[in-house]
Amino acid sequence: MTDQLRADAARLLREARAVVVFTGAGISAESGVATFRDALTGLWERYDPQQLATAEAFHAAPDLVWGWYEWRRALVSRARPNAGHHAVAAIEAHAPSTVVVTQNVDDLHERAGTRALVRLHGSLFAPRCVRCAAPASLPPPPGDTPEGGGRIPPPSCVECDGPVRPGVVWFGESLPEDQLAAAVRAASTCDLLLTVGTSAVVYPAAEIPRVAARHGAPVVQVNPYETPLDALADINLRGPAGQVLPALVAAAWPDAGGAR
Ligand code: OAD
Repeated sequence: MTDQLRADAARLLREARAVVVFTGAGISAESGVATFRDALTGLWERYDPQQLATAEAFHAAPDLVWGWYEWRRALVSRARPNAGHHAVAAIEAHAPSTVVVTQNVDDLHERAGTRALVRLHGSLFAPRCVRCAAPASLPPPPGDTPEGGGRIPPPSCVECDGPVRPGVVWFGESLPEDQLAAAVRAASTCDLLLTVGTSAVVYPAAEIPRVAARHGAPVVQVNPYETPLDALADINLRGPAGQVLPALVAAAWPDAGGAR
Protein backbone atom coordinates (compact mmCIF):
# COMPACT_ATOMS: atom_id res chain seq x y z
CA MET A 1 0.00 0.00 0.00
CA THR A 2 1.59 3.29 -1.04
CA ASP A 3 1.08 6.46 1.00
CA GLN A 4 -0.59 8.10 -1.99
CA LEU A 5 -3.16 5.32 -2.41
CA ARG A 6 -3.92 5.42 1.30
CA ALA A 7 -4.29 9.20 1.22
CA ASP A 8 -6.66 8.97 -1.77
CA ALA A 9 -8.75 6.30 -0.05
CA ALA A 10 -8.77 8.29 3.20
CA ARG A 11 -10.11 11.34 1.37
CA LEU A 12 -12.93 9.28 -0.15
CA LEU A 13 -13.74 7.90 3.28
CA ARG A 14 -13.69 11.28 5.00
CA GLU A 15 -15.91 12.87 2.36
CA ALA A 16 -18.43 10.01 2.06
CA ARG A 17 -21.80 10.48 3.73
CA ALA A 18 -22.99 6.89 3.33
CA VAL A 19 -20.35 4.16 3.51
CA VAL A 20 -20.88 0.45 2.95
CA VAL A 21 -18.19 -1.81 4.38
CA PHE A 22 -18.48 -5.24 2.74
CA THR A 23 -16.56 -7.89 4.64
CA GLY A 24 -15.52 -11.50 4.21
CA ALA A 25 -13.56 -14.09 6.12
CA GLY A 26 -10.25 -12.25 5.62
CA ILE A 27 -11.17 -9.60 8.18
CA SER A 28 -11.35 -12.28 10.88
CA ALA A 29 -8.16 -14.09 9.80
CA GLU A 30 -5.99 -12.07 12.19
CA SER A 31 -8.33 -13.09 15.03
CA GLY A 32 -7.35 -16.70 14.31
CA VAL A 33 -10.59 -17.59 12.49
CA ALA A 34 -9.79 -19.53 9.32
CA THR A 35 -10.91 -18.23 5.92
CA PHE A 36 -12.45 -20.57 3.37
CA ARG A 37 -10.21 -20.42 0.32
CA ASP A 38 -6.73 -19.32 1.42
CA ALA A 39 -4.13 -21.89 0.38
CA LEU A 40 -3.33 -24.44 3.12
CA THR A 41 -5.32 -22.76 5.92
CA GLY A 42 -8.72 -22.26 4.25
CA LEU A 43 -11.60 -24.41 5.54
CA TRP A 44 -12.58 -25.50 2.04
CA GLU A 45 -8.98 -26.58 1.45
CA ARG A 46 -9.31 -29.04 4.33
CA TYR A 47 -13.00 -29.92 4.44
CA ASP A 48 -15.52 -30.79 1.73
CA PRO A 49 -18.36 -28.25 1.73
CA GLN A 50 -20.67 -30.82 0.11
CA GLN A 51 -20.26 -33.01 3.23
CA LEU A 52 -20.70 -30.17 5.73
CA ALA A 53 -22.45 -27.14 4.33
CA THR A 54 -25.56 -28.39 2.54
CA ALA A 55 -29.05 -29.35 3.73
CA GLU A 56 -28.47 -32.80 2.19
CA ALA A 57 -25.33 -33.28 4.28
CA PHE A 58 -27.22 -32.35 7.47
CA HIS A 59 -30.00 -34.78 6.59
CA ALA A 60 -27.51 -37.59 5.88
CA ALA A 61 -25.16 -37.00 8.85
CA PRO A 62 -26.62 -34.51 11.36
CA ASP A 63 -24.08 -35.41 14.08
CA LEU A 64 -21.12 -34.76 11.82
CA VAL A 65 -22.46 -31.42 10.55
CA TRP A 66 -23.61 -30.21 13.99
CA GLY A 67 -20.23 -31.21 15.47
CA TRP A 68 -18.37 -29.27 12.80
CA TYR A 69 -20.38 -26.08 13.44
CA GLU A 70 -20.03 -26.52 17.22
CA TRP A 71 -16.25 -26.72 16.73
CA ARG A 72 -16.34 -23.49 14.73
CA ARG A 73 -18.59 -21.81 17.30
CA ALA A 74 -16.14 -22.80 20.05
CA LEU A 75 -13.18 -21.36 18.08
CA VAL A 76 -15.00 -18.10 17.37
CA SER A 77 -16.15 -17.79 20.98
CA ARG A 78 -12.53 -17.91 22.10
CA ALA A 79 -11.39 -15.44 19.39
CA ARG A 80 -11.30 -11.69 19.89
CA PRO A 81 -12.03 -8.86 17.45
CA ASN A 82 -8.84 -7.54 15.88
CA ALA A 83 -7.72 -4.06 14.89
CA GLY A 84 -9.55 -4.42 11.57
CA HIS A 85 -12.93 -5.01 13.25
CA HIS A 86 -12.27 -2.09 15.58
CA ALA A 87 -11.38 0.18 12.65
CA VAL A 88 -14.67 -0.74 10.95
CA ALA A 89 -16.54 0.22 14.13
CA ALA A 90 -14.58 3.50 14.16
CA ILE A 91 -15.73 4.25 10.60
CA GLU A 92 -19.33 3.94 11.78
CA ALA A 93 -18.56 6.24 14.72
CA HIS A 94 -17.22 8.90 12.32
CA ALA A 95 -19.72 8.37 9.52
CA PRO A 96 -23.01 7.39 11.16
CA SER A 97 -24.68 6.34 7.87
CA THR A 98 -22.23 3.45 7.58
CA VAL A 99 -23.69 0.00 6.98
CA VAL A 100 -21.52 -3.09 7.42
CA VAL A 101 -22.57 -5.93 5.15
CA THR A 102 -20.84 -9.14 6.16
CA GLN A 103 -20.65 -12.62 4.73
CA ASN A 104 -19.14 -13.82 7.99
CA VAL A 105 -21.00 -16.03 10.45
CA ASP A 106 -18.86 -15.05 13.44
CA ASP A 107 -19.85 -12.28 15.88
CA LEU A 108 -16.61 -10.27 15.84
CA HIS A 109 -18.08 -7.16 14.19
CA GLU A 110 -20.72 -6.87 16.92
CA ARG A 111 -18.16 -7.47 19.64
CA ALA A 112 -15.99 -4.67 18.20
CA GLY A 113 -18.94 -2.29 18.45
CA THR A 114 -20.50 -2.29 14.96
CA ARG A 115 -24.21 -1.56 15.23
CA ALA A 116 -25.60 -1.32 11.67
CA LEU A 117 -24.84 -4.87 10.54
CA VAL A 118 -26.39 -6.82 7.67
CA ARG A 119 -25.70 -10.56 7.73
CA LEU A 120 -25.90 -12.20 4.34
CA HIS A 121 -24.90 -15.73 5.41
CA GLY A 122 -26.51 -16.07 8.83
CA SER A 123 -24.75 -16.64 12.15
CA LEU A 124 -23.14 -19.44 14.12
CA PHE A 125 -25.10 -18.14 17.09
CA ALA A 126 -28.66 -18.30 15.73
CA PRO A 127 -29.66 -21.95 15.31
CA ARG A 128 -33.24 -22.82 14.44
CA CYS A 129 -35.53 -25.79 14.10
CA VAL A 130 -35.50 -27.50 10.71
CA ARG A 131 -39.20 -28.32 11.01
CA CYS A 132 -40.88 -25.25 12.57
CA ALA A 133 -38.07 -22.64 12.23
CA ALA A 134 -38.33 -21.68 15.93
CA PRO A 135 -35.09 -20.15 17.19
CA ALA A 136 -33.18 -22.44 19.52
CA SER A 137 -30.91 -21.57 22.40
CA LEU A 138 -27.41 -22.95 22.48
CA PRO A 139 -25.48 -24.47 25.36
CA PRO A 140 -22.14 -22.82 26.19
CA PRO A 141 -19.71 -23.73 23.41
CA PRO A 142 -17.85 -26.99 23.96
CA GLY A 143 -14.54 -26.32 25.69
CA ASP A 144 -12.44 -29.10 24.31
CA THR A 145 -13.43 -30.06 20.79
CA PRO A 146 -11.22 -32.14 18.52
CA GLU A 147 -10.14 -30.60 15.19
CA GLY A 148 -13.25 -30.65 13.02
CA GLY A 149 -15.56 -31.20 15.99
CA GLY A 150 -16.26 -34.91 15.73
CA ARG A 151 -19.83 -36.14 16.01
CA ILE A 152 -22.19 -34.20 18.27
CA PRO A 153 -25.93 -34.87 18.03
CA PRO A 154 -27.96 -31.71 17.33
CA PRO A 155 -30.41 -30.69 20.04
CA SER A 156 -34.16 -31.09 19.59
CA CYS A 157 -36.55 -28.18 19.24
CA VAL A 158 -38.37 -27.35 22.48
CA GLU A 159 -41.49 -26.41 20.45
CA CYS A 160 -41.91 -29.41 18.14
CA ASP A 161 -39.06 -31.82 18.87
CA GLY A 162 -37.66 -31.37 15.36
CA PRO A 163 -33.90 -31.32 14.77
CA VAL A 164 -32.12 -27.99 15.35
CA ARG A 165 -29.78 -26.83 12.57
CA PRO A 166 -27.05 -24.19 12.45
CA GLY A 167 -28.37 -20.74 11.54
CA VAL A 168 -26.05 -20.30 8.58
CA VAL A 169 -26.80 -20.22 4.87
CA TRP A 170 -25.72 -23.44 3.18
CA PHE A 171 -24.80 -24.01 -0.44
CA GLY A 172 -27.93 -24.21 -2.55
CA GLU A 173 -29.99 -22.14 -0.08
CA SER A 174 -31.37 -18.65 -0.55
CA LEU A 175 -30.00 -15.74 1.41
CA PRO A 176 -32.30 -14.19 4.03
CA GLU A 177 -34.51 -11.93 1.89
CA ASP A 178 -34.60 -8.99 4.30
CA GLN A 179 -30.83 -8.99 4.69
CA LEU A 180 -30.15 -9.20 0.96
CA ALA A 181 -32.64 -6.41 0.31
CA ALA A 182 -31.02 -4.23 2.99
CA ALA A 183 -27.57 -4.88 1.49
CA VAL A 184 -28.70 -4.02 -2.05
CA ARG A 185 -30.46 -0.90 -0.78
CA ALA A 186 -27.36 0.28 1.08
CA ALA A 187 -25.06 -0.49 -1.87
CA SER A 188 -27.35 1.34 -4.30
CA THR A 189 -27.33 4.51 -2.25
CA CYS A 190 -23.82 4.64 -0.76
CA ASP A 191 -21.13 7.03 -1.90
CA LEU A 192 -18.25 4.72 -1.00
CA LEU A 193 -17.99 0.95 -0.85
CA LEU A 194 -15.06 -0.48 1.09
CA THR A 195 -14.60 -4.20 0.46
CA VAL A 196 -12.42 -6.05 2.96
CA GLY A 197 -11.08 -9.60 3.04
CA THR A 198 -13.31 -11.35 0.56
CA SER A 199 -12.51 -13.43 -2.51
CA ALA A 200 -15.82 -12.13 -3.93
CA VAL A 201 -16.61 -15.38 -5.72
CA VAL A 202 -19.77 -16.45 -3.88
CA TYR A 203 -22.99 -15.06 -5.35
CA PRO A 204 -25.29 -13.31 -4.79
CA ALA A 205 -23.20 -11.73 -1.99
CA ALA A 206 -20.41 -10.89 -4.45
CA GLU A 207 -22.88 -8.69 -6.35
CA ILE A 208 -22.86 -6.10 -3.56
CA PRO A 209 -19.66 -4.22 -4.57
CA ARG A 210 -20.78 -4.44 -8.18
CA VAL A 211 -24.17 -2.90 -7.31
CA ALA A 212 -22.39 0.02 -5.65
CA ALA A 213 -20.09 0.51 -8.65
CA ARG A 214 -23.05 0.41 -11.06
CA HIS A 215 -24.64 3.21 -9.05
CA GLY A 216 -21.50 5.30 -9.35
CA ALA A 217 -19.92 4.78 -5.92
CA PRO A 218 -16.13 4.45 -5.80
CA VAL A 219 -14.89 1.07 -4.58
CA VAL A 220 -11.85 0.68 -2.32
CA GLN A 221 -10.56 -2.84 -1.75
CA VAL A 222 -8.45 -4.08 1.18
CA ASN A 223 -6.86 -7.48 0.59
CA PRO A 224 -3.30 -8.82 0.68
CA TYR A 225 -3.89 -10.69 -2.60
CA GLU A 226 -5.54 -10.16 -5.96
CA THR A 227 -9.25 -10.89 -6.29
CA PRO A 228 -11.81 -10.66 -9.10
CA LEU A 229 -12.64 -7.18 -7.74
CA ASP A 230 -9.20 -5.74 -8.55
CA ALA A 231 -10.34 -4.38 -11.89
CA LEU A 232 -13.59 -2.98 -10.46
CA ALA A 233 -11.91 -1.25 -7.51
CA ASP A 234 -10.83 2.36 -7.92
CA ILE A 235 -8.18 1.82 -5.26
CA ASN A 236 -6.58 -1.46 -4.17
CA LEU A 237 -4.92 -1.32 -0.74
CA ARG A 238 -2.75 -4.43 -0.52
CA GLY A 239 -2.20 -5.79 2.97
CA PRO A 240 -3.86 -7.38 5.98
CA ALA A 241 -7.01 -5.69 7.25
CA GLY A 242 -5.63 -5.44 10.79
CA GLN A 243 -2.90 -3.12 9.53
CA VAL A 244 -4.47 -1.40 6.53
CA LEU A 245 -7.80 -0.40 8.11
CA PRO A 246 -6.44 1.33 11.26
CA ALA A 247 -3.96 3.24 9.06
CA LEU A 248 -6.79 4.24 6.73
CA VAL A 249 -8.98 5.46 9.60
CA ALA A 250 -6.06 7.38 11.12
CA ALA A 251 -5.38 9.03 7.75
CA ALA A 252 -9.07 9.90 7.24
CA TRP A 253 -9.59 11.44 10.69
CA PRO A 254 -6.09 12.37 11.93
CA ASP A 255 -7.42 14.60 14.71
CA ALA A 256 -9.42 11.76 16.27
CA GLY A 257 -6.33 9.77 17.19
CA GLY A 258 -7.08 6.88 14.80
CA ALA A 259 -9.58 4.15 15.67
CA ARG A 260 -11.93 5.25 18.42
P1 OAD B 1 -12.63 -16.57 1.24
O1 OAD B 1 -11.89 -17.56 2.06
O2 OAD B 1 -13.17 -17.02 -0.07
O3 OAD B 1 -11.70 -15.32 0.94
C1 OAD B 1 -10.98 -14.71 1.97
C2 OAD B 1 -10.27 -13.50 1.40
O4 OAD B 1 -9.61 -12.85 2.47
C3 OAD B 1 -9.19 -13.82 0.36
O5 OAD B 1 -9.35 -12.96 -0.77
C4 OAD B 1 -7.88 -13.54 1.09
O6 OAD B 1 -6.87 -13.05 0.20
C5 OAD B 1 -8.31 -12.48 2.06
N1 OAD B 1 -7.50 -12.37 3.28
C6 OAD B 1 -6.79 -13.31 3.92
N2 OAD B 1 -6.20 -12.81 5.03
C7 OAD B 1 -6.55 -11.51 5.09
C8 OAD B 1 -6.28 -10.44 5.99
N3 OAD B 1 -5.51 -10.60 7.08
N4 OAD B 1 -6.81 -9.22 5.73
C9 OAD B 1 -7.60 -9.02 4.64
N5 OAD B 1 -7.89 -10.00 3.76
C10 OAD B 1 -7.39 -11.22 3.97
O7 OAD B 1 -13.78 -15.96 2.18
P2 OAD B 1 -15.11 -15.17 1.75
O8 OAD B 1 -14.84 -14.30 0.59
O9 OAD B 1 -15.65 -14.58 2.98
O10 OAD B 1 -20.20 -18.87 2.52
O11 OAD B 1 -16.02 -16.37 1.31
C11 OAD B 1 -17.34 -16.11 0.90
C12 OAD B 1 -18.26 -17.21 1.34
O12 OAD B 1 -17.73 -18.48 0.91
C13 OAD B 1 -18.37 -17.39 2.85
O13 OAD B 1 -19.28 -16.50 3.45
C14 OAD B 1 -18.83 -18.80 2.97
C15 OAD B 1 -17.92 -19.46 1.97
O14 OAD B 1 -18.38 -20.64 1.41
C16 OAD B 1 -21.11 -19.57 3.17
O15 OAD B 1 -20.82 -20.22 4.17
C17 OAD B 1 -22.47 -19.50 2.60
